[in-house]
Amino acid sequence: MLKQDKSTEQQYGYFDDQKLEYVITSPYTPTPWINYLGNDGFYGLISNTAGGYCFYRDPKFRRLTRYRYNSVPVDNGGRYFYLNCDGHQWSATGRPVHTELDEYRCHHGMGYSRFHASKNNIATELTSFIPLNTKAEVHRLTITNNNDNAKTIDLFSFIEWCLWNAEDDGTNFQRNLSTGEVEVEGSAIYHKTEYRERRNHYAFYSVNHPIDGFETDRETFLGPYRGFDSPIAIEKKSTHNSVARGWSPIASHHIKFELGAGESKTLVFVLGYCEVDAEHKWQAPNVINKAPALLLQKQFDSSEKVATELQKLADYWHKLLNKMTVNSPDKRFNRALNIWNQYQNMVTFNLSRSASFYESGIGRGMGFRDSNQDTIGFAHMVPEKVKERILDLSATQKADGSAYHQYQPLTKKGNANIGGNFNDDPMWMVLSTANYIKETGDFSILDEMVIYDGQEVATHNHFDHLERAFNHVVNNLGPHGLPLIGRADWNDCLNLNCFSEDPNESFQTTQRGASDVAESVMIAGQFVLYGQDFVEICQRIGKTDLALASQAHVEQMRQTVEQQGWDGEWYIRAYDAQGNKVGSHECSEGKIFIESQGFCAMAGIGTEQGKPLQAMQSVEKHLTTDFGIMLNQPAFTRYSKYLGEISSYPPGYKENAGIFCHNNPWITIAEAMLGRGEKAFEYYSKITPAFLQDVQQLHKTEPYVYSQMIAGKDSANPGEAKNSWLTGTAAWNYYAATQYILGIRPDYEGLIIDPCILPSWQNVTIAREFRGARYDIELHNPHGLSKGKIKLTIDGHEVDGNLIEANRYQGQHHIVAEIIA
Ligand code: GLC
Ligand code: GLC
Repeated sequence: MLKQDKSTEQQYGYFDDQKLEYVITSPYTPTPWINYLGNDGFYGLISNTAGGYCFYRDPKFRRLTRYRYNSVPVDNGGRYFYLNCDGHQWSATGRPVHTELDEYRCHHGMGYSRFHASKNNIATELTSFIPLNTKAEVHRLTITNNNDNAKTIDLFSFIEWCLWNAEDDGTNFQRNLSTGEVEVEGSAIYHKTEYRERRNHYAFYSVNHPIDGFETDRETFLGPYRGFDSPIAIEKKSTHNSVARGWSPIASHHIKFELGAGESKTLVFVLGYCEVDAEHKWQAPNVINKAPALLLQKQFDSSEKVATELQKLADYWHKLLNKMTVNSPDKRFNRALNIWNQYQNMVTFNLSRSASFYESGIGRGMGFRDSNQDTIGFAHMVPEKVKERILDLSATQKADGSAYHQYQPLTKKGNANIGGNFNDDPMWMVLSTANYIKETGDFSILDEMVIYDGQEVATHNHFDHLERAFNHVVNNLGPHGLPLIGRADWNDCLNLNCFSEDPNESFQTTQRGASDVAESVMIAGQFVLYGQDFVEICQRIGKTDLALASQAHVEQMRQTVEQQGWDGEWYIRAYDAQGNKVGSHECSEGKIFIESQGFCAMAGIGTEQGKPLQAMQSVEKHLTTDFGIMLNQPAFTRYSKYLGEISSYPPGYKENAGIFCHNNPWITIAEAMLGRGEKAFEYYSKITPAFLQDVQQLHKTEPYVYSQMIAGKDSANPGEAKNSWLTGTAAWNYYAATQYILGIRPDYEGLIIDPCILPSWQNVTIAREFRGARYDIELHNPHGLSKGKIKLTIDGHEVDGNLIEANRYQGQHHIVAEIIA
């Protein structure tokens, strides 16, 4: 077994940086460790034992396969391959059959997962992926007989169909146990539930090989009261060619074959999705039109074709990851930035918070604030998609500048049952837009005509949307002149206008009273920070008067925070509906919060009086732990209806004094802005998975991606993570590390070089594609500084300042940046 980097080898696996893989060596990881397949509409979630499911575009309404959340055993439902040879039964992915394997490995790579198993010298290699631009999962399985004699093998595939609407599928049994329908033709099993009525789509599971039998009825396959770990079909090595009518339709192929000594066989299974237009639904009465399915099957009917697609996928990722690469003295830093953080950024960009092993895929649409923030980790990779996303978000904005909190990706319409009034929402679009323009130089995004929610025809451009976002804050100020919080700000659980005493209502969608009192200092900081971006955009497009007027609002807010938002040693968090302070030394619990420290410090509020630095010192003193920075302290020990959901959580979890990783990078950035490189790096690395390899057992979640939350010091298990993958932490920590620690920062005119690194780092090299040029940057730090004046040389010529002017360069360039004082 080839091991790339012994130093990362742990109880459950190791990084193989050369292959861009994380290799898992046990089917019994502390939680299912998953990967995502697909990158454009068709997606699959796949655990290290092939559990999970796939869906087309919307994980609620178009789910192909069934998965059981929070079930026993955990990770129940997936793409399973069962083998029976000489009476020994096992799974090619380590589970669900519990037979201990002689060899097991799962390689999670960029858009694919590969599983190696071996039992009694019968080896299998399964590669699962979604080819580029394809609505299908492909499973290529190679079985090799490493014995010195011939062996007969019975192989069974297995997936279980979800009846499309995942929520209904898990609840409406009185209907669903009667609706299931399938067809079988050749080696393909078609799932056509509800196709007879309003659905113009079906799914199929096929294999490029004749089959010896099949099952499509779950009960027949499993046998009464048996689980996925011991299907009767495998035990008896026989199938009944069952055709499901209602109950629970599945797809299982049975293939029996003999392999001589040393012989191998490769099979390709395709799990595909097809849409057919209404006129061409049927090829004969009650027989679905299989033309599109046959095409799809043909595309992947040989292992050569599959190999070509795998290569295309690898090239695609190579190209994307190559847009920015780092070589610092710390391997873990490089691993995070060059591989896994960028990979996670794409996944969070694509899926927002919809489908993970912690988000069931039936609840939430695309979040307005989440999706805007996700773009800051992705704009350098696929800027066209970022532009499209920003404009989609913009089109859900309301005419008064406020925003629907979420929208559905299928309809692109704001979600009426959640509504708006999260008053931080609109300003995130200023961040995403400014960041996009700084990356691309493409000001034309501002001229795009975009509807306001409910409009038929767009009457205003995207710039107007930003202006209304800005004004929405200006027009909604409270008694202290600070922004009204509405239902909540970034912290969904700080519900100052909810006053809930009813356990059956949602904290987030309930708002009592006029809400014209409770105010947020975090939004104030956000307004100053991104308000400055808005002002700069106005200046750059020649709207000088508007720039001046907007600047005045920003300055006013800055003063207001200095006067009303400072507690003495840190920034206050909010004023509640009674006008009481939240996040002040006067409070008995929740005296200090992270969010306002991060935003007000990044905005530089009170810099002349040293407030940002003092706030950072308070963060260090009160909020920092070995596992990251907690959200607040002291934790709330009692529920208060004046604070809402935050006080509903047991101390140390989630928003109640958990380490809510998403906001840690705000502190990292603020520290970097202050020039404190060691602090910035410390906060960065405490939550970065590549640095946490020796606490895998405690940490529990995947050791290659960020999790939303790590339990804080008041919890039963400080350091234990939850809710991996879909978190704003990915985009933010990438942004913090690349733009503020390495200081390679896109700006309107070009690329700024403004690092704040560890003093011990003497040399770092960075390659960065930027607006059609590629820069190979050598960063030198001969005096052991963190931050300082930069001496910049471009292709051997010294230039003034620390900006690489974008319009002067195309092609490849060599940059030397030295921190000189
Ligand atoms: C979740 C939400 C995000 C919110 C955060 C803090 O991660 O997706 O929108 O800001 O929680 O409450
Ligand atoms: C809960 C979670 C919070 C999340 C919100 C979104 O309140 O605690 O983190 O943002 O749900 O629905």
